[in-house]
This record gives sequence, structure tokens and C-alpha cells, in this order.
Amino acid sequence: MGANLMLFIFLFLSIISSFRADYVRPQPRQTLHFPRNPKSSSQPHQVHISLAGDKHMRVTWITKVHSAPSYVEYGTSPGEYTSVSQGESTSYSYIFYKSGKIHHTVIGPLKAGTLYYYRCGGEGSEFQLKTPPSQFPITFSVAGDLGQTGWTKSTLEHIDLCKYDVHLLPGDLSYADYLQYRWDTFGELVEPLASTRPWMVTQGNHEKEDLLIFKAPFDSYNARWKMPFEESGSSSNLYYSFEVAGTHVIMLGSYTDYDESSDQYAWLKADLAKVDRERTPWLVVLFHVPWYNSNKAHQGEGASMMAAMEPLLYTAGADIVISGHVHAYERSKRVYAGKSDPCGAVHITIGDGGNREGLAHKYNLQPEWSVFREASFGHGELKMVNLTHAFWSWHRNDDDEPVKSDQAWITSLVSSGCVTQKNHQLKKFR
Ligand SMILES: *[C@@H]1O[C@H](CO)[C@@H](O)[C@H](O)[C@H]1NC(C)=O
Ligand SMILES: [Fe+2]
Repeated sequence: MGANLMLFIFLFLSIISSFRADYVRPQPRQTLHFPRNPKSSSQPHQVHISLAGDKHMRVTWITKVHSAPSYVEYGTSPGEYTSVSQGESTSYSYIFYKSGKIHHTVIGPLKAGTLYYYRCGGEGSEFQLKTPPSQFPITFSVAGDLGQTGWTKSTLEHIDLCKYDVHLLPGDLSYADYLQYRWDTFGELVEPLASTRPWMVTQGNHEKEDLLIFKAPFDSYNARWKMPFEESGSSSNLYYSFEVAGTHVIMLGSYTDYDESSDQYAWLKADLAKVDRERTPWLVVLFHVPWYNSNKAHQGEGASMMAAMEPLLYTAGADIVISGHVHAYERSKRVYAGKSDPCGAVHITIGDGGNREGLAHKYNLQPEWSVFREASFGHGELKMVNLTHAFWSWHRNDDDEPVKSDQAWITSLVSSGCVTQKNHQLKKFR
């Protein structure tokens, strides 16, 4: 009798839930399992590349052997390396863990929109990379809070299909969370993509890994994911900027000081003053903790950074602000100071790359500025078409298919006159 009643309730609930929505959200997937020692010796592991100043690219890889050299040979034909660059290396240890030798080698000058073949430290397989175009159009792929689960794998497969030029990652990469070998497995997982297109990242809470005297915050992240901070006049790997094909991209740190007396604030102000909207009409900013978020998860966590820095970004005419942290997707209208504003930025939260913590399903009432929100894993694509138009789309992982679920044309603040209007205010930065 009890069993029949249970069955009835179960059937009843399934029927009810099947009427509620046509899309059934998938469950979180397990963390992937990797062999612990896939390769040995001085073979390059975990190869990834990043933009390193005008016409240059940084190649990063790890070798088990600490005597392995840090040079990169490269050229535009397979197996014919016409150039070679020497690099630097670092390593770190943490309690019983000792990292391999982490090599960082800047190559260039490189031609835009060109396929290069390269080899790391004279060993192992040949890799290929494509440099971004020098002019519009350019496509950025976007995904935050990646982790290394079955969902991460499916997100990465979809990103790989989208013919992007540069990947943007607004924090929370490996979810190593103090288990250092997970940084290594993450490095192997993303290598097929990150060795062929530049991956530009900023850090989230899962990169912090600080522990009393044993570990300084962001140690492992800084050693493994060196970004072009020196090239952009910053004194910290936690915030930097780069320019590519008409777009100035600023990466900020949500977990480092940001108030008016901080180094990050001073650097941001100086960097914004350098932006030339004729050379780079688009201004895009990324950091981990969203300022505009109507999900119940992490509600209000970005408020103090927003209070300190939003006026600067508004005055500078930031077009698009991308963040992660909340494991869901949300897109806003152009907003400023909590309200829609035609000269504000479009805010996008995209912390749904596929990490093991699962999705953030609970929402507050939808605010006036919120256009679209959904708790599903997926990735974004941002195509800067020309100086006036960009096309944004968000692709949900529907089982293992990417399904375009939200899309919008974004017109630039340069074309709407907002930037000219603000020019007199901008002068006080200089
Ligand atoms: C920019 O791209 C948009 C969308 O494709 C198009 O409508 C517009 O005419 C283009 N503008 C210029 C100046 O080419
Ligand atoms: Fe986070």
C-alpha cells in the first residue's frame, strides 16, 4: 500500500514537473579522473599561450625535469623553425607538493591572423597557434568557473567548435582548492585549446589558496598563469590589460585591494587614461564577482568593489563588463548605479563553465535592468563586428549540444555618442 502511494506521488510529481518548463536542467557531473603520471622526463606538459604586448605571445609549459631549457622554436611552416626565443622559469612548493619547472617564453614579433608552428624546449610534439586578427571582426569566447568535470569537458568542446580568436576567463579556473595536482590535471585538460589560441584569465576565489605561512594568496595561480601585467604597466599579475583588434580589455582582481588608495585603483585610472577610442573603440572589463546579479547566490558580494570602481568605468565609457562566480548566466541592459542608463555598461555574469559545485538555481525577483537569466552550464561568444556593432550570444550545454539560448546586438558607446559626451570628464584622469 505504502509503495503504491509512493509510486503515485512520484508519477504525480513527474507529470507536474514536466509541465513546468520545456527545458530540464541537467545535474552536475563528476570531476574527471586523470592518470596521475601521463608523461615523464623533459616533455612539455600543460602548454598554454597568452597575449604579451603588441605582436607578442607568451608560451607557458611545465616540465618534470628542472634542467629542461626554456626556449621556444617557431615558424610559419610545420617543422621549420625560423626563430627562437629564450624565456624564464619558475617553480613553487607547498607542503609535500613540488611543482615541475614552469616555463614562460615570449615569442614575436608575430604577424596578425597567422598560423605558427612551435615547439617547447626542443622536445616533444609540435604545437600550432593562430594569432588574433589586427582588425575587426574578432571573436572572443567566454566562460568562467570552469573546473574539471564532465560539464567542463562539454563546455570546452563547444568553445573549440566556435572558431574563436581569444578566450576570456573571468576567474575560477581549476578548482584545485589546495590540491596542487589538480592544477596539473586542469593544465592538461585545457591544453588542446589553450595551446592554440591565447587564453586571457583573471582570478577568482578558488585561485586564492592562502594558508598561514605555508602559502601566500594566488601563489600557484601567479606561477602557472602569468598574464601580461608588466607589458601593461601593472605591478601585479592580478590586474592588467591588453589590446587586440580594436578592443581594449581590462582584467581586474576582485580579491585584491580596490579602494581609492589602492595600487589597483591607481593602475586602473592610469590604464583608462591611456585608452585611445579611435584605435580601440570597444572597452571591455572582466573580474570575478559580479556587480549586477539577481541570483540569490553571492548576493551583494561585489558591492564594495562596485562602489569604488563603477564611477571610473562609467566615466571612461566601459561597454561590456563580464564576471563569473555565480554559477548561472545573466545579461543586463546598459546600467549604472543600479539603474538602466544608456551610457552605462552591459553586465554579463557567466560563471557556468561546468565546475563541480553545480548550478545556482535560486533567484530574487527580476530587477528592471536584468534582461535574461538562466541557471545552466554553457559558454558565451562575443564578436566585435566593427566599431559600432558587437554580437553577443550565450550557448547553453543542452545535454552535450551547444544551443544558442540568448543573443543580442550591442552598439558601442563610441557610436552612441556617450564617449564624446564624457570626454571632458575623462580629462581629469590625465
Ligand atoms: C557594422 O555592422 C553592422 C552589423 O553587421 C552593420 O549593420 C553596419 O552597417 C556596420 N557598420 C559599418 C560602418 O560597417
Ligand atoms: Fe567564484
